[in-house]
Amino acid sequence: MESELAKASLRPLGRSSLSVSPLGLGCWQFSRGKGIVGGYWSNLDESDILEIVRVSLEGGMNWVDTAEIYGGGKSEEALAHVLDQLKKEGSPHAAPVIATKWWPLLRTASSITATIDERIRCLGGREIDLYQIHQPFSLSSIASEMKAMAGLVKAGKIRYVGVSNYSAKQMTEAHRLLQQYGLHLVSNQVKYNLLDRKIDRNGTMAAAKELGISIIAYSPLQQGILTGRFHKDPAQIGAVSRVRRMQSGLDEKSMARSKPLIDSLTVLADKYTVTPGQIALNWLIHYNGDTVVAIPGASKARHARENIGAMSFRLTQDELEHLNGASWSALK
Ligand SMILES: NC(=O)c1ccc[n+]([C@@H]2O[C@H](COP(=O)([O-])OP(=O)(O)OC[C@H]3O[C@@H](n4cnc5c(N)ncnc54)[C@H](OP(=O)(O)O)[C@@H]3O)[C@@H](O)[C@H]2O)c1
Repeated sequence: MESELAKASLRPLGRSSLSVSPLGLGCWQFSRGKGIVGGYWSNLDESDILEIVRVSLEGGMNWVDTAEIYGGGKSEEALAHVLDQLKKEGSPHAAPVIATKWWPLLRTASSITATIDERIRCLGGREIDLYQIHQPFSLSSIASEMKAMAGLVKAGKIRYVGVSNYSAKQMTEAHRLLQQYGLHLVSNQVKYNLLDRKIDRNGTMAAAKELGISIIAYSPLQQGILTGRFHKDPAQIGAVSRVRRMQSGLDEKSMARSKPLIDSLTVLADKYTVTPGQIALNWLIHYNGDTVVAIPGASKARHARENIGAMSFRLTQDELEHLNGASWSALK
């Protein structure tokens, strides 16, 4: 049932031929505790990862987002293993759209070309549908990076090009450069949720809409806060690392400020017999038309089960606007 509903609402990713479900699976959580950002999440074992991927894909997600930096290839490898397993079982969901990312820090654009075969190897030889520049800080210019990415499309190593954490100006520049090679910039992956509306203020959302570029919203649940679980049970905050507490706004002042928003999510959740997190995700994938798709991460199969449920109902326009107001009030 959920799968059918989600299928009905596939949407194009930017101006590409890729049709994606409004929610895809974020795979940072599959870093196996390795690398410079892998320790952020607990180390999941392969059976947990298999269940999370299975539940997500069988429930209607048709794409996954990973990255080189997530465990130095460990997330890509874990994903490849579980997709191999699903294929062996004859699952019709064993070949999702795959998005991954090149890590630019302290590197030049030549590494984009030099490392692509390693990315494909980590993904078990699978085609990379969307290859993204993970963030704008690098030793090379955007022009050199777009030239290298266009070369990969031409060589048939990747299908489409995206960026991540780019400002409106950097995104527009990347788009203009790719057009010189007859390509479009398909997406910009940025932080976006009801408690983080920076891209609505700094022109990124407006530019994306104008240029037909999809926004891939990362941390769509503000790393769990928008599920209401930390407001309901503040003792859970103690189990979260200091860096995550700081990044997500798990301090007393921020929690007090976000409480009325969580209350609004809870009222709507009761109305639809869903959860506050599902309401938050539903807002994200509908408030800006088809421009925003989101990639919630999960460390448990029950998270994935809950998150896919956000694709099986639709808030009314009045409700979307009401949450928009509650969101801005929480950010004042
Ligand atoms: N491009 C970038 O720079 C960038 C940056 C960050 C993330 N990303 C991508 O975006 C994805 C998602 O972002 P994110 O992981 O930062 O944030 P998120 O999706 O907002 O939060 C994920 C975390 O929230 C909790 N959670 C998720 N679903 C839940 C549910 N239904 N009920 C209760 N708790 C739930 C879990 O925390 P616990 O594990 O503690 O239970 C989970 O690990 C990542 O996997 C990654 O692919 C990209």
